[in-house]
Amino acid sequence: MRTFLILSSVFGALTLLAILESFSSAGEEANVSGNFGAAIPGLNTGQLATFEFGRSIFKKSFTRREGLGPHFNATSCASCHEDPVEGGSAQRYRDFFLAGRLNQEGILEKIYPDCTEFNAPTQRTECCLPSMVIPHYGPRGDNENPVASGVEHPSLSQADVVANRNAPPMFGVGLFRLISDEEILSRADPQDANGDGISGRINRIEDEDNQIGRFGYKCQTASIEAFNRGALNNQMGITSNSIEFAMGPGQDEKPFLDELFEIKTAYAQVAAPVDELTDYDGVQDPELSRGELIALVFFQENLAAPRRGRITSSVRQGESVFLRIGCANCHAASLNTRIGKIHPYTDLLLHDMGPELADGITMKQALGNEFRTQPLWGLCEHSPFLHDGRAATVREAILLHGGEAESSRNAYAELNQQDTLMLHRFLESL
Ligand code: HEC
Ligand code: HEC
Repeated sequence: MRTFLILSSVFGALTLLAILESFSSAGEEANVSGNFGAAIPGLNTGQLATFEFGRSIFKKSFTRREGLGPHFNATSCASCHEDPVEGGSAQRYRDFFLAGRLNQEGILEKIYPDCTEFNAPTQRTECCLPSMVIPHYGPRGDNENPVASGVEHPSLSQADVVANRNAPPMFGVGLFRLISDEEILSRADPQDANGDGISGRINRIEDEDNQIGRFGYKCQTASIEAFNRGALNNQMGITSNSIEFAMGPGQDEKPFLDELFEIKTAYAQVAAPVDELTDYDGVQDPELSRGELIALVFFQENLAAPRRGRITSSVRQGESVFLRIGCANCHAASLNTRIGKIHPYTDLLLHDMGPELADGITMKQALGNEFRTQPLWGLCEHSPFLHDGRAATVREAILLHGGEAESSRNAYAELNQQDTLMLHRFLESL
């Protein structure tokens, strides 16, 4: 019954977007900002209930009996997306590690084999893991006293590449699904045909219907669902089935199945990889129900974008500096969505950021020196910065830009005091 209600309100969300859409046309502002952690304006009571249910899954601390582990980094999503509220970022103590090994073709692969019933973690003698993510905690111990994973620290012996990741905030990020592929492609310039030193490439995701990746530091997934299923499995050891795949043949569900296909096309909420996940931890899979997964996805898709601060004359002056020194060539001021313009200050493209930031991690078509232009909205409410959290301040983050951003970075370093001050006022207002 609960699932039915939840699905009904997801169904309601489609109608909501249809209504929003009918009022907006290209060029109009989308009404999507709000306080951190709030839903975008305009959800009805049922949708808000789904949103709140999704928030509760996001905050929920899973136990071993509910499927946590065998390996994990945290017991809830909100452990890492906590600051200033759930959906936010985290300080560096929450960072996690990725480790990979180059195979004979030079392609980066995870170090450990997939888990099977033969090396099940519950009775394992050797380590098995689903991805390049290296978890801190292992199969023994309980929630209160988790025991270190026993995964050998990879930097020592087996890995060719080790990198760390710091959790970014995700307010408004779910809206990226409403941006068309064409809008993203309109800024891509893979061969730098216009000769401005900035290319910008897309990451096409083969196992997500070849859609353009939008989520993660390397645009490594095209849908929030795929990202979520990965995070659940890799960070928490919680298995799930893809929403589409998990759709049972039950009578009640037929209309929702049809509706979900609508979601696929209309929302770019394409199917996550279809494989059912298993983790051999002794708890029956999937450990997250379909209703819970839908609500979790719904929560993130409808998290409001950060509210813009006051636009004073210094902010306006700072904006012109931002444009003049080329920051907006990547941190694009506005993107068109199906429901109007949004202002995340990203182009959702991958850029070569130079050897200093390069980490050797490849994901789908993203190379080791490429990263997605990080959105700048809400910048003043979070720290640290960059994919590995190495910059404690905004200034440090900018000075670490290299590669395609080098001339822009140099122009920043040479700004006079007044222009620097105005630029920072502008960044703080986003
Ligand atoms: C151990 C810390 C950690 C945990 C736990 C965690 N995350 Fe994350 N999250 C991260 C980091 C770090 C990134 C950036 C990773 C990357 O892109 O490579 C991220 C990125 C994301 C993004 C993409 C944001 C964007 O800007 O595109 C989403 C969505 C997300 N996480 C959802 C979740 C959900 C849902 C859960 C719980 C199932 C979760 N995360 C649990 C650390 C964590
Ligand atoms: C060539 C494209 C490009 C240009 C030009 C560029 N950036 Fe960036 N910016 C990026 C990418 C890509 C990242 C993410 C890098 C990472 O995570 O390591 C980023 C990250 C940032 C961050 C850190 C955000 C966070 O939340 O971690 C700030 C701040 C920033 N840029 C500001 C600027 C400013 C100001 C300018 C102009 C001086 C500028 N950028 C020019 C591509 C660019």
